[in-house]
Amino acid sequence: MCGIVGFVSSGPVIDGLIQGLKKVEYRGYDSAGVAIIEQGIIKRHRAVGPLAALMTELPPFQGTVGIGHTRWATHGRAEEKNAHPHCGKGTAVVHNGIIENFQALKKDLSFQGIQFESDTDTEVIAHLFATSEHLTNLQERVLFVLKQLKGNFAIAVLLQDCTDCIIVARKGLSPLAVGQGKEGFYVGSDLSSLSGSAQKVAFLEDETWGVLYKDQAIFYDWTGQEKHLNFYPNPLQAQETEKGDFQHFMLKEIYQQADLVRIQGLPALPAEVCQASFFTALGCGTAFYAAWVGKFFLERLAKRFLNLELASEFHYRNPILPDGVSIVVSQSGETADTLKATLYAKSQQQYVLGMINAPHSSISRQVDYLMPTGAGTEIGVASTKAFTMQVLSFLNLSLALCSDAPLRQTVLDSLKEIPSVLKDIIQRSHEFAQIAAVLSQYQSILYLGRGLHYALALEGALKMSELSYIHAQGFAAGELKHGPLALIDPQHPVVVLAPWDESFSKTLSNLHEVKARNGPIFLITDTKGAASLEGLKPEGLFMYPSLQEPLLQVFPNAICVQLLAYYTALHKGLSIDQPRNLSKSVTVE
Ligand code: F6R
Repeated sequence: MCGIVGFVSSGPVIDGLIQGLKKVEYRGYDSAGVAIIEQGIIKRHRAVGPLAALMTELPPFQGTVGIGHTRWATHGRAEEKNAHPHCGKGTAVVHNGIIENFQALKKDLSFQGIQFESDTDTEVIAHLFATSEHLTNLQERVLFVLKQLKGNFAIAVLLQDCTDCIIVARKGLSPLAVGQGKEGFYVGSDLSSLSGSAQKVAFLEDETWGVLYKDQAIFYDWTGQEKHLNFYPNPLQAQETEKGDFQHFMLKEIYQQADLVRIQGLPALPAEVCQASFFTALGCGTAFYAAWVGKFFLERLAKRFLNLELASEFHYRNPILPDGVSIVVSQSGETADTLKATLYAKSQQQYVLGMINAPHSSISRQVDYLMPTGAGTEIGVASTKAFTMQVLSFLNLSLALCSDAPLRQTVLDSLKEIPSVLKDIIQRSHEFAQIAAVLSQYQSILYLGRGLHYALALEGALKMSELSYIHAQGFAAGELKHGPLALIDPQHPVVVLAPWDESFSKTLSNLHEVKARNGPIFLITDTKGAASLEGLKPEGLFMYPSLQEPLLQVFPNAICVQLLAYYTALHKGLSIDQPRNLSKSVTVE
């Protein structure tokens, strides 16, 4: 979602701000802006559209204190008047999150004669700072404003009365990171914005605010007591946030999987996890589908029950949870729904295990035991390597809990085959480009799979719809004749994930049912499956080498559905790393 950046230095900050904004672009946005203190006056520049639009006609700012923002519309359309920073008299504010009482505050401020120019909730913050100018003590002034704001928010503020600093504050779910570099202090909505610039970083805790100067930063709690923040070396290297020779981050991240999926050594689990017989997995979107695969692993290999829950639904129904372990799955570690679900699980005395890719994220800081998924920085909005590494983490967890030593050894042996199988698929990417050219002509695609492959069918359909804007929906192959078969005709192709396994022949029967209704079939299978098609002639076929252990077919299947979605979007000329309307880090519910 929206991205915040800020920089206070001894030299001009505009280049640093723009670099920071480029690094938060991946979060998804529809407008952007900067505000800078120029010779004691706040100057602002905003534009709708990509950063390139902001850069055209960007004034030659020379100021040494500034803030910037990429906005993903929530309150008010994507128009320049709604783009951040928002200004009041002598103030400018960038904001992530939602000010829940903004209507009431707006009414009060309007009574005082203040004119609003935007439809946003953020603008009230700027005017509250403006109306607090009578408070000459900075602490009193900031607390006067913060205490009036309800909701979750992260903000960075410029004050014309305080020309050498940026005020930062965080309440609730919206994260905010501060960085210290050779050239000054930075603020950003995540670590990406600080990569390559800050050597040391710290996250603002809930209900914390601070003042950043070029050579020091002071932090306070909501009562005004000074508090210490732990800075640690910035874990993010600049090259991780660069595309290198790849056309898109997504392609780079798909390719990286061949090196990532390998035996890592099983985790040394805490007693609470080893002894638990009831697990609940919580996640949204792709993370939820990874947990779905995890259910198979945990039940087959560790013989433990796993209850799957969509984090976005979970806490609203106040579910009853038997004693056990909740596994929260998240790439960003900032997803508001997943954070809420985590807090609910904790409130129910669950032991919380976090499978998180961003180890310093808000959710990581809440869990009892962290299993970092180790995918590295993922920039493409559509999750690829993060999914695969979540799946690998479930595999590692399940193997660590598996008491059947020969079974564990078979799986570990088969895991050694994965890197070369994934490399083989990647080398044959052009085959997906050919299938994608055909698929891109359709308005709607069904994805089918059985068992473990059903989870991948759901993930494949999600990837296809978010990237290509083609309606795509996943079904369990066995459900076909319970309804979706009515959709099948020459205009409704099916993408089928069916490598050879114990359910292959059943899926094959389903495919014959599709064929009998002239539905085009695009089959992803392995060599054994392709050799057992019994006369079925799919319109498109991709086949990868057969694996020793069918449970691990999830890895090649994952790369196949990712490449299919990637090439379909490429064929349609769409924005691959930032699909429309979507955001990498979903920090609002
Ligand atoms: C889809 C995708 C999303 C995320 C979901 C959860 O490609 O990326 O469905 O998986 O928004 O995000 P995290 O894992 O950051 O909690």
